[in-house]
Amino acid sequence: MTAPCTIRNMDWDDLPSLVGIDLSSQDPWNYQRLGAAMECPYSLGAVAMAEQQIAGFLMYSVSDTTPKSMRKQNRIHLIAGLVKLTVAPDWRKRGIATNLIQKVEDGLVVRFAQNHPAGRLTLTVTVPDTWKEAHHFLKKIGFAVPVADGHPEIKKAPFDFCDDDGYVFERRREWSPVVDILDVAGAAAA
Ligand SMILES: CC(C)(COP(=O)(O)OP(=O)(O)OC[C@H]1O[C@@H](n2cnc3c(N)ncnc32)[C@H](O)[C@@H]1OP(=O)(O)O)[C@@H](O)C(=O)NCCC(=O)NCCS
Repeated sequence: MTAPCTIRNMDWDDLPSLVGIDLSSQDPWNYQRLGAAMECPYSLGAVAMAEQQIAGFLMYSVSDTTPKSMRKQNRIHLIAGLVKLTVAPDWRKRGIATNLIQKVEDGLVVRFAQNHPAGRLTLTVTVPDTWKEAHHFLKKIGFAVPVADGHPEIKKAPFDFCDDDGYVFERRREWSPVVDILDVAGAAAA
């Protein structure tokens, strides 16, 4: 059953709760490490609130990878790298992580679409081979491993605790100027 939750920006005061929740992950980050990630100027964070508690959180960074040719057309290409996603065990399998990712993705599209009528946002995350449950989760919510020359993309996982290679998972969203159906119908009738 999906749990009702609201998503808000991460706040410095959230740090102790985030450290507690992250103890349940395969790669728990301590106070110093999570704090350093929050302080990093390129890092953004969102938390899911359910029943007035933090049920899960997502840390990510956004880069603009627009090629020159696209920039001339005022089209933007963005990559949002998911750095940390953890849901508290009591709240798992109730749609919290899906909601976090969706709200962050929607928020980025709304924000960047204001200045760029067309664009593409790729969410990406590298997950160690052994994190099978995370692989299932990502596939369920529309992420896929890009395949090049018949082979899935694998790169060194960016986790210093772990020597495993990681699979790159991606989910892509595009936007373009909305054609108002009423305008088109009106123009056709004129
Ligand atoms: C992976 C994790 C973030 C999922 O969070 P969640 O809030 O439970 O996920 P959701 O409820 O939004 O699940 C979305 C879908 O994925 C599926 N899913 C979630 N966890 C799963 C698991 N452990 N095994 C298989 N499928 C899973 C759900 O069943 C759901 O599918 P459905 O809509 O058909 O029911 C959470 O289990 C977690 O924090 N794990 C530890 C840290 C981790 O692995 N982080 C992920 C790094 S990418």
